[in-house]
Amino acid sequence: MFTIKTLIGIAIMLLYGGVSVGSSNSMETLRMLHVAGKVMEYQLGLWLRNRYGAFIKNVFDPEEVEVISTDLDRTLMSAQCVLAAFYLPDEKTKFRSDLSWMPTPIHTSPKGDDKLLNIDATCPRLSNELSKLQTIPAIKAFYEEHKDLFKRLSDSSGLNLTTAVEVQFLFDTIKIEEIYNLTIPRWAISDYDEMKVVSDFSFKMTSYTRELKRLRGGPLLGMMAGNMRKKSHGDLPKKKMQMFSAHDTTVSVLLNSMGVFNDVSPPYAATVVVELHQTGNKYFVKMFYQNDSRMINEPHALKIPGCSLECPLSNWTHLLDDVTPKDWSAECYRPNPILDHYYIVGLTGASIVVLGLLISGGIYYYRKKYAGDPTTCNYEALEDQEPNT
Ligand SMILES: *[C@@H]1O[C@H](CO)[C@@H](O)[C@H](O)[C@H]1NC(C)=O
Ligand SMILES: *[C@@H]1O[C@H](CO)[C@@H](O)[C@H](O)[C@H]1NC(C)=O
Ligand SMILES: *[C@@H]1O[C@H](CO)[C@@H](O)[C@H](O)[C@H]1NC(C)=O
Ligand SMILES: *[C@@H]1O[C@H](CO)[C@@H](O)[C@H](O)[C@H]1NC(C)=O
Repeated sequence: MFTIKTLIGIAIMLLYGGVSVGSSNSMETLRMLHVAGKVMEYQLGLWLRNRYGAFIKNVFDPEEVEVISTDLDRTLMSAQCVLAAFYLPDEKTKFRSDLSWMPTPIHTSPKGDDKLLNIDATCPRLSNELSKLQTIPAIKAFYEEHKDLFKRLSDSSGLNLTTAVEVQFLFDTIKIEEIYNLTIPRWAISDYDEMKVVSDFSFKMTSYTRELKRLRGGPLLGMMAGNMRKKSHGDLPKKKMQMFSAHDTTVSVLLNSMGVFNDVSPPYAATVVVELHQTGNKYFVKMFYQNDSRMINEPHALKIPGCSLECPLSNWTHLLDDVTPKDWSAECYRPNPILDHYYIVGLTGASIVVLGLLISGGIYYYRKKYAGDPTTCNYEALEDQEPNT
């Protein structure tokens, strides 16, 4: 049950809603996608205002609210859409009578340094962990089970698909075509369900091991835990909300690190809400997952394993301690204790590893962009399809 009476702080992680950048779209239906993404994020802003209106002032106050986004056009724009609705001025608070908008700051860090929200932030240990993924028996078995799908999809799409994440990007494009009533190629229809399975699994893989949870989800969990602890000690008396704008993978990593991921690709505008409540001198955490892109359904309450829906703050931090590094940077540059003899190799290899990460990060964003951005959708089927309208 949602109660505002006891609420003293919130952290909100929201996912960009297909807001993409690009101006020279030839197809009207695809141009609409930009609009649809913005509509979803705006709707989310209205939903948040409706839910937290009694808690957060309707004029931006930097002591009360902080907004942080990854440094990408689409996540920054998504945050802007959410905030435009969340801080919709009334006649009194408008600064121009013809403008229903007020400026709201959004903070960001360069991609490589963004350990908080970019799951591919520069971290040698992370790339080491990722390279070990393929050797995990369950993952090997998964790839083996679906190897025919990879072959079929590669043949049909003309892409060389070798990883679950690549299938996920393709599936994303298909889903966008579906939303826009474009004709979906026959091969995609017949493999739709299996593509979904692989796509969902790719989100699970992103934080499959304890190490990946620590390195990718830990910094954000650590920040939330730290702020809630401070709040409960009476520090940060005025701070009420932190809002984070990031990616589907950031959402799935956060959920998976807390043991509450439903193993389903987060839909557009999916949002995780972490609330800190106080009754008397007791502090507890309540979490919700709003995964209805239309913001109509009630959000799902999240219960971390080993705790109740209203989880005492100390239990919450204690249970998540295992996936929250004390010193992320040190951990990133510290070789795995079990692999001590690789220490020297690890050190000399470090600069190469860092470079490799930057490059793979670039590919990730590029691919993600073309999967989500209609201006550059470049698998064969899309370009010459006509809308069905
Ligand atoms: C497909 O990609 C994999 C991994 O990147 C590579 O090893 C393989 O040679 C590529 N195959 C083709 C046909 O390009
Ligand atoms: C797609 O078709 C459905 C059913 O005909 C319709 O409700 C929907 O508005 C269409 N979507 C777009 C983007 O045209
Ligand atoms: C939303 O989450 C619930 C609970 O995990 C799940 O049953 C449902 O399928 C999800 N919906 C979408 C659209 O992902
Ligand atoms: C919180 O932790 C304490 C101490 O481990 C335990 O006794 C209590 O049952 C936990 N509370 C919940 C709601 O899990």
